[in-house]
Amino acid sequence: MRRGTETAENLERLMPDMTAWRRHLHMHPELSFREERTSAWIAEHLAAFGCDEVRTGVAGTGVVAVIRGERPGPVVALRADIDALPIQDEKDAPYRSTVPGVMHACGHDAHTAALLGVAAHYAAARDSLAGERRLIFQPAEEVTPGGAIGVIEAGVLDGVSAIYGVHLWTPLPSGTVASAPGPVMATEDEFDLEIRGKGGHGGMPHETVDAIAAGAAFVQGVQTIVSRSVDPLEPAVVSIGSFHAGTAANIIAEVCRLSGTVRTFDATVRERVRERLQASAEAVCRQFGAEFSLDWRHGYPPVVNDEREAERFFAVARGLFGDAAVRRIRPLMTSEDFAYYLQRVPGCFMFVGAGNAECGAVWPHHHPRFDIDERAMLQAARLLVAMADHYAEEASSAA
Ligand code: NI
Repeated sequence: MRRGTETAENLERLMPDMTAWRRHLHMHPELSFREERTSAWIAEHLAAFGCDEVRTGVAGTGVVAVIRGERPGPVVALRADIDALPIQDEKDAPYRSTVPGVMHACGHDAHTAALLGVAAHYAAARDSLAGERRLIFQPAEEVTPGGAIGVIEAGVLDGVSAIYGVHLWTPLPSGTVASAPGPVMATEDEFDLEIRGKGGHGGMPHETVDAIAAGAAFVQGVQTIVSRSVDPLEPAVVSIGSFHAGTAANIIAEVCRLSGTVRTFDATVRERVRERLQASAEAVCRQFGAEFSLDWRHGYPPVVNDEREAERFFAVARGLFGDAAVRRIRPLMTSEDFAYYLQRVPGCFMFVGAGNAECGAVWPHHHPRFDIDERAMLQAARLLVAMADHYAEEASSAA
């Protein structure tokens, strides 16, 4: 208990640093796999804290820090993602992005700052630390395939007994935390469809094959995949995110290009949706006399929390923040490459409420005015440390 209070005080003392770090990162965002300055900056800080090892160039632009405690215990990994998004920052804050068209619009800057706080804490508390902490600053969470696969291929999970990660989440009010056992985030697949018709004069449509009409029929048709071909009790989403065709009012478009995303949890549903999309493209193009090519990209698997580790989350979080602050989250149709870590090592992915109207943190993730309640970083850091230490104490007392 005494150690718990000390940890909370240490992390609270680091809060001004975490805030400054987050704002620095927020002003200098970098896109997925291009986080060169970000990763050099992270590595510099980790070295200054006196971490036992700082490994750079992991999966390209990732950084991994190792801190070994003076007491025996397991290796526990904690992960933050470090990349930003191709969005123009439209906030009116002194720390808004200085890079045109690039913005930390998902809170990864705060994940990074919180994990730096955790590193500084552990590096100064080796005498009470049981086992090893491996802190993963992962590149490229926002693209498919993301950075997690490369981190795993680099051997970073070797010897790791458990892994934990957080996502700050503005739909949840600041002060709350949430997670759940089993699946919490969806599988994400993407597709590109190119429909090729036959261009011609807008006044003589009978001599053409209209790619826009075929594309529109396809978009209408796929809206029924979820409602008519998927078990109503199974979550699924099909969204068309882009549709490009044509050049002028009096020209029939020869080509129409569409792209979309599919979100599911169940492997059978995932395959069923893919089949129905393919069949829709075939049927529409046969009807119109067009041709098509469909390019399908398998994205991240679902994020599935270990049952026991989710139980640990509820116990640890209630101890830290009180019963009223802890929620069971409903599965989200967003996706996360933390999924790959959880396929190999038991662990838990957790959400930390970051929404607060008083500080303008009311916008959804990936919005040009996105911002967070920075106090959420302290909660994130406390939760990560408490989960890792709880696991390590349990493992040490069982040994
Ligand atoms: Ni994110």
